[in-house]
Amino acid sequence: MGVGSSGDADADAERARREVERREWDAQFMACLSLLLPESMLLREGTMVATSNRTGMMMMSNTYTDDWVDTGLRLDKPLLDVGCAYGLNVMHAVRRGARVVGIDYEDRHLTVAAQAIKDVLAARNTQNTAMFSAFEFKHGRLPSQLPPSDTPDGRYASVLVSEVIHFLTCDELKQSLRDIRNLLVTHGTMYITAIGHGALGFFESEDAKRRVAEKVAQKRNSCGAVEWQLSELRAFHVEQCPSVSVDSTRPHTGKEPIGPDRWQTFDAPTLSRAVADAGFRILKASEDENPSYSGFHTQDDSVAKEFGLPCHVAIVAEAIPP
Ligand SMILES: C[S@@+](CC[C@H](N)C(=O)[O-])C[C@H]1O[C@@H](n2cnc3c(N)ncnc32)[C@H](O)[C@@H]1O
Repeated sequence: MGVGSSGDADADAERARREVERREWDAQFMACLSLLLPESMLLREGTMVATSNRTGMMMMSNTYTDDWVDTGLRLDKPLLDVGCAYGLNVMHAVRRGARVVGIDYEDRHLTVAAQAIKDVLAARNTQNTAMFSAFEFKHGRLPSQLPPSDTPDGRYASVLVSEVIHFLTCDELKQSLRDIRNLLVTHGTMYITAIGHGALGFFESEDAKRRVAEKVAQKRNSCGAVEWQLSELRAFHVEQCPSVSVDSTRPHTGKEPIGPDRWQTFDAPTLSRAVADAGFRILKASEDENPSYSGFHTQDDSVAKEFGLPCHVAIVAEAIPP
């Protein structure tokens, strides 16, 4: 066996080890969270949790979680999780010894998140008491309501924005990307994931799928995204994914799309351009690759297959000097 392949095998083994460790903590987090939330909010056998404000779900951790934490540890600065929901990714940063801030505009998420992490650390009989003060949850909202870090320059090493930007308008997205750039140290990293146009493949009728594809072909906003109004989404019927409309405050009919009355969908090339315009160098731009979303949005989805539209988009980008 050559040197290269033994190195590859070591890297694969390390990735596998990290995955097992992450999954174990995910499971423990879900066990604690399940005591804090109504059972109806735990979806798909505990692999997704409905948000409390009809903004979809919190997903399990994935390889971006590891990478986001790696950057923070390497640059020795705090991490930021924007739209952290119930704090699962924040917990992963804490367990690996990072300092981290989780923000969300839904205060109900933040209260539950802080309690869930304390419960996990207590359940594991954590001896490292510093972990209990390594995390903070704050109210924050894209764009512009982002708290600076507690370091002298107020910056973060690494920012995770997982499944949030599709709830913004194009102008809000542009401002948000600039705000995040200004909060990152130079060479800090942003991990951003969002729903792709093909995710609208939830909508079952052939006619709806064709209309999705036609609109994607014709109607881009200046971020390269496509905007959808609640009235349009309603017309498509969200039959195949009723879980997106579960919330804790009122019964759902199974026919309603998620909370905000509009959202925008992306593809990797156009989202990359918007990110680059805000002062980033693109390190990686991928479509339909995020392991958390396999089985949820997949490349087998018929819109993706028939019309070549991604269901999910992920960009990793480095903050370049101004
Ligand atoms: C689909 S969930 C994603 C949760 C988690 N980041 C994940 O990937 O599993 C969206 C989260 O972002 C929050 N959110 C939505 N719009 C936001 C905004 N403009 N500013 C801050 N948080 C926002 C919601 O409250 C919710 O917790």
